[in-house]
Formats: sequence, structure tokens, C-alpha cells
Amino acid sequence: MRGAEGREPVITVDGPAAAGKSTVGRRLAERLGFRFIDTGAMYRALALSVDAAGLSPDDEAKLRAHLEGVDVRLRGDRLLLDGRDVTAEIRTPRISELTSRLTRLAAVREKITPLQRRAAAAGGVVLEGRDTGTVVCPDAEVKFYMDATLDERARRRQAELRARGLEADFGTVRGEIGRRDVQDTTRALAPLRKADDAIEVDTSELTIEQVVERMLAEVERRRGCRAEGRAADGAPMSGLYAFAKPVAAALLRLFFRLEAKNPDHVPSRGPVLLVANHSSFLDPPLVGAAVSRQLWFLAKVELFRIPLFGTLIRRLNARPVRRQGPDPGALRTALRVLEAEGALLIFPEGTRGEEGVLRPAKTGAGMLAVTSGAPVVPVYISGSGRAWPRGRRFFRPARITVVFGPPLSFDGGRRAGGHRRAQYEAAGREMMAAIARLKDSVAADGARLKPRVHAQIQ
Ligand code: DC
Repeated sequence: MRGAEGREPVITVDGPAAAGKSTVGRRLAERLGFRFIDTGAMYRALALSVDAAGLSPDDEAKLRAHLEGVDVRLRGDRLLLDGRDVTAEIRTPRISELTSRLTRLAAVREKITPLQRRAAAAGGVVLEGRDTGTVVCPDAEVKFYMDATLDERARRRQAELRARGLEADFGTVRGEIGRRDVQDTTRALAPLRKADDAIEVDTSELTIEQVVERMLAEVERRRGCRAEGRAADGAPMSGLYAFAKPVAAALLRLFFRLEAKNPDHVPSRGPVLLVANHSSFLDPPLVGAAVSRQLWFLAKVELFRIPLFGTLIRRLNARPVRRQGPDPGALRTALRVLEAEGALLIFPEGTRGEEGVLRPAKTGAGMLAVTSGAPVVPVYISGSGRAWPRGRRFFRPARITVVFGPPLSFDGGRRAGGHRRAQYEAAGREMMAAIARLKDSVAADGARLKPRVHAQIQ
């Protein structure tokens, strides 16, 4: 799903204190490969500077003059106040109290709201706070409103304090949160309220993971709705993808004499799953450069946490997956790409292996093929594991060929019934067998070519 100008969506998460917004917002952003913006932390940083300057929140003239010179910015998940990292310092009861008073003032909100809007402008962000869906980004594509009972929120806050070594009486904590609720909802400026178009999530009875899964499903569902509207033509190529594709193709031809064989096996429209062997991180750009249509990729979630790089790969159509254990979110993401008529490249073997050694497919690959019913194009990449194998810092010259095979169909598997896991495994075996045939064809071509080359040399 992209916003009106083709950018990634803006997601807002609002709600009362201790409803779990920050924890789930952060995880949601991580799973989507988005940037997380803790708007409360920006107000807290401002409060820290007001505190250090010894100013009173009641002296509006002095406060305004002070705010003009203050520089608050988020870098990754660090918060910088006039260039100094204050991420830890802003979490004290004293600063919480002062922040709560300051956020009622127009001068303070006028300073911070534009910074938050600017941070969200590029899209691909999750904003968490009190007014992000109502005031900061009223046009956000997906809005959530998190809530939980006062008792549950008080229990969570007490546990959080205990984890930090602070013992607090339940009644006192409950009383404090109740007062914060009244302050947040009744203040004149940007009061806490649920946006009309926000999705309400009551987290009282749910674990963090359940909440995140529910939110992901909602984001994906909306992504699917929008994609269906565009299905006839597929999504337009992002500017970055359109720029990077020919550049990558030229470099790969230059360094590796990249050759694509039978790329016409990839249908030019409609959903298609490309399944390739994997022995180098060059593999995604190699296959991407070898076909004319744009591809989508799956990449490990850790890569999306790297500032800038994460944004870059997301714009290049990479979508995050978790490597440990099953990741139902990843299967859903993959299905959405196919439902939106996209072309998705996956590596059924999982992580990178040795050049020329094919390994069995993981169950997920067969599951995706059978569940989606999309045509599956087998791809064999020859030479990338020689050119840039795992564990090497630099590449070396090697010839690389990418061969495409005729599409396979697992649509029947869905209808045939029977044991599902067995179907997935059979589909996985079939795709690896097709890749093995392509490998043999490359070897046979090589053998035929050799005498000719030899003759030329003579
Ligand atoms: O979420 P938090 O506890 O870090 O927020 C700190 C304070 O800032 C809290 O009193 C609520 C307020 N706040 C706000 O008024 N508007 C926001 N968008 C975020 C936080």
C-alpha cells in the first residue's frame, strides 16, 4: 500500500498512558521495516531543556524565546537535544511530570508538531502518541487507537517500574494514570481522542505479539484493498527502483558478464512466484536485473533496522521476514504481493549455501506456492557463489548466468485436498527438481561451448 503520491503509508498509534502503544508501535514498525517515531519522547526532550534552563512553564514569554533556540531531532531510535543523546535522561518521573504540564501549551505544540509532520512526510513511518492520528497526521493511511482497562494499565506500569528496580504501590500507580487520563483527554489543545477513522484495539486481554499480529493483519488487509484497485496494471515502479534497475544491470553485466537465459518464461503481467537457488547476496539484484518487470523480495527483518539502508531496501521492494521460527506475517506479506498481481522472488532453500549445491526447500516455499496458486517460475543462478560467496568482503570476477524455466502450477494441490504439509513438501521438492534441471542445462551448455572456445583460442 502506498500513499497518494506513491509513498509508503503513514501509520498512527494513539491512546492513553500505559496502553502499550510504544512497545507495539516499535514492533509494528520493525516488522514492516518502517521508521518508528515516539512523539512523546520529543516533548520529553523539550521538557529536559526547559528544566535545565530553570524555566517555569508558566512564564510563557521566556518559554517561547527559549524554545526558538532548541534543536530536537530523532536519529534512528536515539533522541538528540541540541546534538546530545538524551534518550535515557528523559525517562524520569520529574521529566514526565514537567512534560505533562508543557504539552498543554500552544508554544510547545507549535514547536513540536511541525517537526513530527516533517518526519512523517516521506511515509514508511509509525507515529506513536496522543494526537498523531487527529492533529499531526489526520491524513494517515492507517490509524490505530490502543486502549486497555485502567487496572490493566496500572498493572503494566507497576511491572515496568519494578523491572527498573522501583517499587510502587498499585493504588498510587492507578491513581496517577487515572489523573493522566483526565489531563490528556480534557486539555484544550490536541486532547487525546480516538480519530473517527481509527481502528480501536483493546489490549487488556492480548499479549504484545497478538496485538502486533492483529495490527499487521489490518495493515496488510488495507494494502490488499488498495492493491486490488490497481490490479490491472500492477503497482507502478517506485522512482528508486526504476533508477536502480538499469544501473544494477549495467554493473552486473560489466563485472560478471551477466547473461539471462529464457527470461520470457516470466509472464509479463499477473502474479508470479520466482523460486531460485541461493548462494550469494548478489542473487536478488541478479534476478531483478534479468527480468523486465519489477520484482518484490523478502529480506531478514534485521536489515530493516539499519538506518537509511532499511529505508533503501524497502523502496527497492524488499519486505521483512523473521528468520527464527515460523513467521505467519511473512506468508501474509508474500500472499499480498501475489494477490496484487506482483512478481515475488523467494529462495526456497532459505539462507545462502555453496555454489552449485542445491538443498531441500523449506516448507514455507511450498506453502506459498500451493496457497497462492500463482504460477511458479524456477530460476537457476550459476556463478554468483563463485563471484561473491558468503563470508567474503569483496567480490571476484566470475561469469554469472541466470536461467529461467517454464512455469510450474501448484494450483491443483489446493483443490486436491489430502494432508496439507505433505502437499507443501511435495511442491517444494518439485520446484527444487525444476531448478536442478536448469542447473543441468547450464552444465550441458558449458560442456558444448568448451571445445568451441578452445578452437577459437587455437
Ligand atoms: O507517551 P509518553 O508518556 O512518553 O508522553 C509524554 C507526555 O507527552 C505525556 O504527558 C503525554 C504527552 N504527549 C502529548 O501530549 N502528545 C503526543 N503526541 C505525545 C505525548
